[in-house]
Amino acid sequence: LRPARVPSNSRFLNPCIVIFIVVAVVVILAVIIGLLIHFLAFDQKSYFYHGDIHILNVKYSDQLNSPATQEYKTLSNQIESLLSKTFKESNFRYQFVRARVVKLRQTDNGVIAHIVMKFKFTRNFNGASMKKRIESVLNHMLNNSGNWEINPSPEIKPITDEETVDIFTQTSCGARPDLITLSEERIIGGTKAEEGDWPWQVSLRLNNGHFCGGILISNSWVLSAAHCFRGKSDPRQWTATFGISTRFPKQIIRVQTIKVHSNYIFATHENDIAAVKLERSVKFTKNIHRVCLPEATQNILPNSVAYVTGWGSKRYNGHSVPDLEQAQVYIISNEVCNAPSSYNGMISSGMICAGVPEGGVDACQGDSGGPLVQEDSRRLWFLVGIVSWGYQCGLPDKPGVYTRVTAYRNWIREHTGV
Ligand code: ARG
Repeated sequence: LRPARVPSNSRFLNPCIVIFIVVAVVVILAVIIGLLIHFLAFDQKSYFYHGDIHILNVKYSDQLNSPATQEYKTLSNQIESLLSKTFKESNFRYQFVRARVVKLRQTDNGVIAHIVMKFKFTRNFNGASMKKRIESVLNHMLNNSGNWEINPSPEIKPITDEETVDIFTQTSCGARPDLITLSEERIIGGTKAEEGDWPWQVSLRLNNGHFCGGILISNSWVLSAAHCFRGKSDPRQWTATFGISTRFPKQIIRVQTIKVHSNYIFATHENDIAAVKLERSVKFTKNIHRVCLPEATQNILPNSVAYVTGWGSKRYNGHSVPDLEQAQVYIISNEVCNAPSSYNGMISSGMICAGVPEGGVDACQGDSGGPLVQEDSRRLWFLVGIVSWGYQCGLPDKPGVYTRVTAYRNWIREHTGV
């Protein structure tokens, strides 16, 4: 019988090596587990879905055709609140980010709301079952939507980030990039604009130098001021550029036609509006797209906040600047603006004033033709004025004077179809 060999303890159980191996294994395992947990549980990514909700018992109203009307805003808001309440009370409460009505459309039996929703999921989710689960939450909502009669079995479709941008820029207007991506609101600060802050701002160049501002109202029409084209009405002299830098524009497009208001009067600045048709369509992006136009009947409230933007000079008789600037101003009633100490009766019904009481904040030379905009309750931006004239720049009691867009809403429709 051969006795088993007893191995020498000292060779195999060297405590240093054992400790080293144990520590190494633990570290490697910890790293692997950590990475797995990170990717499976915490690394969330945004996913967008597009869908239609058909509401049957909303009566037909012309008011629902324009995002500028109160009816449109109210109905969109109600749908958004209902969606958000529903998902916050469902299993998706931690994954649901936001829902947005991008467009309301009238049909012969009610209204269709086109919606975009954003969720945050970790990467290991099953796309098909997720779509089903979201649809079932929606379906549940539709069956319990109080006084709305909603067509059941909604279908939603996962969409890419690019498709989300396309849906917003093609069906909606006046949305900033943060709204398009359904992200946190970016606050406007300072005087320098950032890319995408004012997506509808255009630089109109005369013989290749910035000359006037412009405003994108569709993919081929730009609004501007009539006085920009005095003695310069040949479209071949003009190009339009897009993006916040006039030195490094994102897109450059030639001008095809210039339509100046036929009753523009130089001496009084009346009817200071022009429509410029581009030679080809602008490619809408997150940072370049159209502003919303108000209804002709819309009432612009005195003392409400507005923003004016442009590459104009920073002081009277200065030079244009290469990077887009913005300024916050307040709407001034025509009555106040016509006071003897102010413009003493020169402000007609087709004009609107905006400035700050102490002066110092204003548009100036080179800003002409550019936008004066306001944000509505749904965070869409509307064009209220076109930079027109002023006595010098930024003087107290001498605010900027703008072409009142509501007064020319029908002129714009007639001449551009927008
Ligand atoms: N007419 C000027 C231009 O051609 C714009 C004047 C605006 N002035 C003002 N103070 N807001 O650029």
